[in-house]
Amino acid sequence: MSPEEKLKAKAHDQMEELRKRDAQAEEGGGPERREREHKQGKMTARERIEMLLDEGTFEELDKFVTHHCTDFGMEEQKPVGDGFVTGYGRIDGRLVYVFAQDFTVFGGSLSESNALKICKVMDLAMRNGAPVIGLNDSGGARIQEGVMSLAGYADIFLRNTLASGVVPQISAVMGPCAGGAVYSPAITDFILMTKETAYMFVTGPDVIKTVTHEEVTKHELGGAMTHNATSGVAHFVARDDADCLGMIRELLSFVPSNNMEDPPRRATTDPADRADQSLNSIVPVDPMVPYDIKDVIHAVVDEHYFFEVHEHFAKNIVVGFARLDGRPVGIVANQPAMLAGCLDINASVKGARFVRFCDAFNIPLITFEDVPGFLPGTQQEFGGIIKHGFPVP
Ligand code: HXC
Repeated sequence: MSPEEKLKAKAHDQMEELRKRDAQAEEGGGPERREREHKQGKMTARERIEMLLDEGTFEELDKFVTHHCTDFGMEEQKPVGDGFVTGYGRIDGRLVYVFAQDFTVFGGSLSESNALKICKVMDLAMRNGAPVIGLNDSGGARIQEGVMSLAGYADIFLRNTLASGVVPQISAVMGPCAGGAVYSPAITDFILMTKETAYMFVTGPDVIKTVTHEEVTKHELGGAMTHNATSGVAHFVARDDADCLGMIRELLSFVPSNNMEDPPRRATTDPADRADQSLNSIVPVDPMVPYDIKDVIHAVVDEHYFFEVHEHFAKNIVVGFARLDGRPVGIVANQPAMLAGCLDINASVKGARFVRFCDAFNIPLITFEDVPGFLPGTQQEFGGIIKHGFPVP
């Protein structure tokens, strides 16, 4: 073989090796585990990213990364990509960074290697002023790696705090989210959960039964409605994966890419000076008669469209996004139809968190006020209404 032919043969072999690794990365945890996910109505990590982003815009990073664990026979199992798909792409033409956990590979658990992959996209997002979207589906820390995995969480949490108020951070929980996997979503700006397949908890039903003797199912403990309606940990509930990914795209249409930009304006056919006669009669003359503040909001905003945030939690206050003359605004409104619109701890925390987000991201606020005051009672005082009712920014 001539030197030139040798070089060509080497290049060919390298290409073949790359193709093989590429196919292995696409494979994830294999067809059987993928099938198991599909049967539960879940998409795979790659299918989710494909559906989330504008067609053909995904650029994957660190596709061939593997873990470095040498214990518990892990040298024999080194899936290419290590179960996390990370990279960047576009939503409505705007740059976003994304990571998705693949439950088919070690249950989407976090290794030292894939923590570095997440940190890389978070760093790039902050440097380039673009939102970070996490599609979570994970059994938590990779048990085989022990503290190396926990250190990876610490690196991610640090970046969550550094990115807070700088670029929007959105977390979708689309499957199990246990142990360490819950904390990073909890300190991002918004959490969306799929109704049937998602759950989040720090410790699961088995541990709870052993420690406190309480019996509770996974979904009662940490299902989408538990966190949307009771704990307030999550902001949105989606019917399924496709609905959830659509909601993320919609949410982003109201927010700027970073705290230096204004939110994107959209063309509207609704005249800015439109008058709505229904507003003359929605609010009853008698202050003791309740009414639904959402009727007022719908009457005022562009095309009567209101994208509500935290719809199922602390219903005595209403928050969410809408547009006026095509410009996104944040709405904060008392809700006389619930608890006569009284403010309590949950309502205060819900309202304050939303106001802080809008403040950080240059989204003007419209407030609709009709409030008799704070809810009186020992429960509220013992719960700390004094500190929660007037949260320090
Ligand atoms: C390694 C894991 C894993 C993990 C799941 N798997 N979780 N591998 N580390 N944390 C693997 C399983 O071994 C299994 O491998 C595959 O993923 C699918 O898991 P199943 O149990 O079959 O799935 P399912 O029945 O749907 O149950 C999902 C689950 C359960 C509820 C999440 O897997 C579970 O309880 N996992 C452990 C959760 C946990 O204790 N996490 C906390 C880690 S400590 P095979 O090969 O069979 O497909 C932690 C502390 C962090 O996170 C503190 C941070 C500060």
